[in-house]
Amino acid sequence: MKDISIYIHIPFCVSKCFYCDFNSYANKEDLIDLYVDALIKEILSKSDILSEYNIKTIYFGGGTPSFIDSKYIVKIMNVLNMFNVDKDAEITIEINPNSITYEKLEDYKLSGINRISIGLQTTFDDVLKNIGRRHTLNDFISALELIKKVGILNISCDLIYPLPDLSYERFKESIDYVILLSKKYDIKHISIYNLEVHEGSKLDFLLKEGFLKLVDEDEEYKMRKYLISTLENNNFIKYEISNFSIPGYESKHNLNYWNQGVYLGFGAGASSFISSSRYRNVNSIEKYINGVNSNNLVIEDREDMDSFDLIKEYIILRLRLKEGIILKDFKTKFNETIFKYFSKELDELSKNNLIIITDSKIYLSDRGQEVANQVWEKFI
Ligand SMILES: C[S@@+](CC[C@H](N)C(=O)[O-])C[C@H]1O[C@@H](n2cnc3c(N)ncnc32)[C@H](O)[C@@H]1O
Ligand code: SF4
Repeated sequence: MKDISIYIHIPFCVSKCFYCDFNSYANKEDLIDLYVDALIKEILSKSDILSEYNIKTIYFGGGTPSFIDSKYIVKIMNVLNMFNVDKDAEITIEINPNSITYEKLEDYKLSGINRISIGLQTTFDDVLKNIGRRHTLNDFISALELIKKVGILNISCDLIYPLPDLSYERFKESIDYVILLSKKYDIKHISIYNLEVHEGSKLDFLLKEGFLKLVDEDEEYKMRKYLISTLENNNFIKYEISNFSIPGYESKHNLNYWNQGVYLGFGAGASSFISSSRYRNVNSIEKYINGVNSNNLVIEDREDMDSFDLIKEYIILRLRLKEGIILKDFKTKFNETIFKYFSKELDELSKNNLIIITDSKIYLSDRGQEVANQVWEKFI
């Protein structure tokens, strides 16, 4: 049986953070019931496909999956458990520090969820407030206490940098504090995303109007250097551009994306990749519910990829990983060596010290990671 990953999108949030461009909505709680029913209907409509696969990972993302009553998560898990969920499957749920309780965590654990991804972003309450987060550092610590008490052992934490009015000195302090917490609470995985300021977001407005300020590029560079060295000195290996883990605790779900593995996404705005085709559901919760209930397709974008599209995408996805492209695996997957397709580009990138080519693999250099977009351009 072939392997598959499942993504479940829960698009509800208590409020919208100022930087967030995810498909998430505040004040739509009255739709939760109908949404979960539609989501289950969508899963069941794919029963034929699902029964052919071994489910290796499940990921509840959002939005804020912990915001809705845990009975909904349990209901969805009960449906997924009717299929072939691998006995060692990695099953993750994203939670926010201020929307979690012992009872919710207990329900998650009983339903088979074994990994928690918790959004902290920064340890400073004033900065959290400035970016529209509703929780404090203490809420985060209380959530960690609860997770530990319930006994879910695989914990990941999200951070963002740079953030408005967070100086290099304070950033260092926050990283040091996260390391301290990671030891106390046995955090296994840390994602540190580079802030994206989306045009039209509230953060964009506050920055443009001068209400908030970001550090300059030099400070950001220093932050990046500090975070990488500090995390690596504390046994968090940087296995992907934005992701660090204690060895053996890399996110299996995300590794499947970066390996161009098969996955099905359910819910509003969820993406899927199967049979060389990528597609995405409509973002609107209302259109999604109505579409599913009237047995219409809820797909908005669809791309049927030819073999060259797949090769280009595979290169970009694999270069995100520290491991890079394993030449032998590339040949097995595509029946040709990578040099047949991109000899000139690889040569140029290597001469410019953006990639490193060895006998067995190709991976991004430190400089290449800093200007990754310049590398991707060669393969688009
Ligand atoms: C789906 S989101 C959220 C999960 C959860 N709702 C939360 O906010 O904690 C996953 C992660 O993406 C990151 N993220 C969201 N918007 C971002 C942005 N504009 N720039 C960089 N990282 C972002 C945050 O670290 C966030 O925790
Ligand atoms: S809680 Fe998470 S998903 Fe919701 S608005 Fe904030 S960052 Fe976006």
